[in-house]
Amino acid sequence: MFSDFANTMKRTFTTEADLATFAAQFARRLQAGDVVAFAGPLGSGKTTFIRAIVQERLGCDPTTSPTFTFRHRYESTVRNEPAIEHLDFFRIRDASEVQELGLEEVFDGDSIVLVEWWEHAPQLLPRRRTEITLEGVGNGPRELLLDDRA
Ligand SMILES: Nc1ncnc2c1ncn2[C@@H]1O[C@H](COP(=O)(O)OP(=O)(O)OP(=O)(O)O)[C@@H](O)[C@H]1O
Ligand SMILES: [Mg+2]
Repeated sequence: MFSDFANTMKRTFTTEADLATFAAQFARRLQAGDVVAFAGPLGSGKTTFIRAIVQERLGCDPTTSPTFTFRHRYESTVRNEPAIEHLDFFRIRDASEVQELGLEEVFDGDSIVLVEWWEHAPQLLPRRRTEITLEGVGNGPRELLLDDRA
């Protein structure tokens, strides 16, 4: 998916701004149908990363969107620019709960899909995806591991 990103990479970000800058750079390479699966403990920066992607691609400030719980779709107003689907499986305790929610349309290839806590329902995600794992909490640095799975 990322010709100038290695298939796997590890990076450390000292500040939130550094992480957001990388996320914006990463965002420019995303295409409709791409799925990015985020893992990492509470407060590690998954939502921060996703907000930077939405800001870069769609120019809207996600903090002003309705209270996000499980799924939020950011529509694009620009032709040929895909919408962004933001999913958060944090509260999913049993993968069958998600199956009942009818998420098939989310993964139909028309939008960019960003999933937090994907490991709570791994069978829902396509095999072809990019996994981003963040480590670190509080004001400390964040370590990012990116793994592009064909
Ligand atoms: N270097 C850094 N990179 C990212 N976030 C940082 C950094 N330093 C401090 N922060 C702060 O850490 C917090 C990360 O919160 P965020 O909501 O993005 O985490 P999350 O992984 O989505 O958590 P959750 O699992 O609860 O959804 C933010 O308050 C952010 O300001
Ligand atoms: Mg989050």
